[in-house]
Amino acid sequence: MLDALEAGLVAAEDDPHLVAIGRGALPNSEGVIELDASVMVGSDLTAGSVCALQGILPAITVARWVMERTPHVMIAGQQAKRFAEQHGLKEQCLDTAESRARFAEYLERPEVKEKYVHTAHDTVTVLGNQDGKVTAASSTSGLGFKVPGRVGDSPIVGSGIYADDEAGCAGATGWGEQLWRACASYRTVRGMASGMSAQEACDETVRYMLRRLPGSREMACAVMAIARDGNFGAAVTQGTFPYWSWTGGEPQMHECSALEA
Ligand code: GLY
Repeated sequence: MLDALEAGLVAAEDDPHLVAIGRGALPNSEGVIELDASVMVGSDLTAGSVCALQGILPAITVARWVMERTPHVMIAGQQAKRFAEQHGLKEQCLDTAESRARFAEYLERPEVKEKYVHTAHDTVTVLGNQDGKVTAASSTSGLGFKVPGRVGDSPIVGSGIYADDEAGCAGATGWGEQLWRACASYRTVRGMASGMSAQEACDETVRYMLRRLPGSREMACAVMAIARDGNFGAAVTQGTFPYWSWTGGEPQMHECSALEA
């Protein structure tokens, strides 16, 4: 399962058409693409993550190496890059002609930031459950035109992802500051541990955010989850959130709409 989730994110990170992750993503306010990624395995609660990683792909693989090759959970910034290089990855330019053009547009008209931040969605999060063994992983370039070094929810265990075979796994996408404050993924897994279905637990987390963090209505914050027995769901604070499930055969698309507090 871990291999499948990693492979999916490696492909997404390499796709220059996805502006929220990996190659060609929206850069920070100085024009540099900075990546965050994380992975967590529910059988033993092991996890690995990297944040503010520059010039290296795939970030998700580096996060996995942190989990599997060190006793740590997170490595940050320049040292994450050095760690990746020590383990065999080479520095590369992640910019594309399109990403450079988006940055030039931002320099000319900083207000375009709003357009990208509010419409581009910002993260790819994947969850897996194989016979009750759950895994969660996430990769992102974070908020477009962010302050250099800013880190969001995605590499933070408990915020961007969480996995525990006793209950299930959860992951988030959207405005990282709000999702982090809510410990959105851990909260959702705790909901399932207390007996809620995945959908009920996602709804509960989003209702909590709407109640306690009203700013989370301003930009979509979504949580999704798979319970230990395989039932799954998702909820969002604003607009609609499309997500895909695969249980064999063709992938199915689903959509959830914003809840009321
Ligand atoms: N959810 C990704 C971020 O805010 O960085």
